Amino acid sequence: MSNWAARELDRPLCRVADLPEGQSVGFDPLDEGRDTMFVVRKGDTVHAWRNLCPHYDRARMAWKKDEFLNGDRSRIMCAAHGALFRIEDGVCEIGPCVGQSLTPVPVRLHDGALWIVGEYAPGFRR
Ligand code: FES
Repeated sequence: MSNWAARELDRPLCRVADLPEGQSVGFDPLDEGRDTMFVVRKGDTVHAWRNLCPHYDRARMAWKKDEFLNGDRSRIMCAAHGALFRIEDGVCEIGPCVGQSLTPVPVRLHDGALWIVGEYAPGFRR
C-alpha cells in the first residue's frame, strides 16, 4: 500500500507551452502506468483535477488518452456515465453526481512550467 499523501514531486509536469489551449491532457505524475490526473488550459489559467469521478471514484474519466472534455470542449465529461463538470471549479452540473465535485490538484505556474505544489492527494490512500 502506497501513501500518496506523503509524496511530493521534484519535477514539473510539463512546459505550459506544451498544453494546448482549451484542451485536456492526462498525466501520470507518480509513474503508475495510467493517467491519475489531468489538466485543462484556459488562457493563462490551468485547472488540474484527479482522474477520479465522484460518482464512482475508481472510474477513469477519459474516453481515450487526453480526452476528458465533452464534444464542444465546454465541460469536463466522465466517459463512464456522461457526467458533465464545470472546468473552472469541477462541480458536476449534469449527470448522476450533480452538485458533487472533482478533486483538485494544487498546481502553480513557474518559469513557464507547471508544477504540483504540496501534497498530490491529501488524505487519499490506496
Ligand atoms: S463514474 Fe463518472 S459518471 Fe458514473
